[in-house]
Amino acid sequence: MTVAERTLIDEINELREKKNAVILAHYYQRGEIQDIADFIGDSLELARRAQETNADIIVFAGVKFMAETAKILNPEKKVLHPNPESGCPMADMATYEGVKKLREEHPDAAVVAYVNTNADVKTLADVIVTSRNAVKVVKALKEDKIIFVPDQFLGGFVAQQVPEKEFILWKGFCPPHFNLSPEQLLELKEKYPDAKIAVHPECNTKTSEIADFVGSTSQIIEFATTCDAENVIIGTEVGLKHQLEKINPNKNYIFPVNADYCGTVHCCDMKKNTLDKIKEVLENETNEIVLPEEVIEKARKPLDRMLEIV
Ligand code: 13P
Ligand code: SF4
Repeated sequence: MTVAERTLIDEINELREKKNAVILAHYYQRGEIQDIADFIGDSLELARRAQETNADIIVFAGVKFMAETAKILNPEKKVLHPNPESGCPMADMATYEGVKKLREEHPDAAVVAYVNTNADVKTLADVIVTSRNAVKVVKALKEDKIIFVPDQFLGGFVAQQVPEKEFILWKGFCPPHFNLSPEQLLELKEKYPDAKIAVHPECNTKTSEIADFVGSTSQIIEFATTCDAENVIIGTEVGLKHQLEKINPNKNYIFPVNADYCGTVHCCDMKKNTLDKIKEVLENETNEIVLPEEVIEKARKPLDRMLEIV
């Protein structure tokens, strides 16, 4: 670590203490952000942490929908987003008008919104899910017909696990995960025949089908660091490597190279947050997440419902 980096971290620590702030970070954040975070987790764990914190300020190092979720769960707290340009392209694929129309066309269906949605779309949902709990939540619903937005692949994965229900899938997708083909993983498997394959359910169906394990980022970490294979092929964003190597450095975690998208399974949006930007928002209390009261009130209901089920 350089002297400049050390100084920057010292400044962040001083500000965090002085302002009673907490830094929450997703696993796809840069390694240096993961290292200074008070808590790192998957979307569900981060939502829970955001709800439980006693801090006055939450600095959310993740993409916009994650910071918005923290605000919806904590309307009285100041939630700061290090870089407002860090959005989720998949969340932006589901529009308020489009989802509203679909809901009106199928009044007998439950609208299940992946947490990767913008706050206005959450107001239209009956329940929110994350990649960790989607199957469990959908099984618990009384409705037999499900409108699932926006990820067609997580929706398809849930539909496979809950065949007794009918699904209408929004055609959204996560560009970094979508671009990971089964051939890329099989090529690696040829090189490491004893390896296990763990992927995120945002991967396309054909890729998930060849995996030994499909789960959220935290679940992948748990599987990869504890399974009996020495080599584990990981089908998710490359930011996970940092935690995997910290938690169990005795294994070999193999990430595919994906020539179509930034070199690997790489979420350019997640990487828009930096230590500099974290310091800046803590110091000046800028980039605050502000949502209309009505949106907070309406979006809170499906989020609370999820948190009650799981
Ligand atoms: P997790 O809930 O598994 O952390 O996923 C969040 C996400 O955006 C994956 O692309
Ligand atoms: Fe969105 Fe995909 Fe990036 Fe996750 S990895 S934040 S779903 S673009």
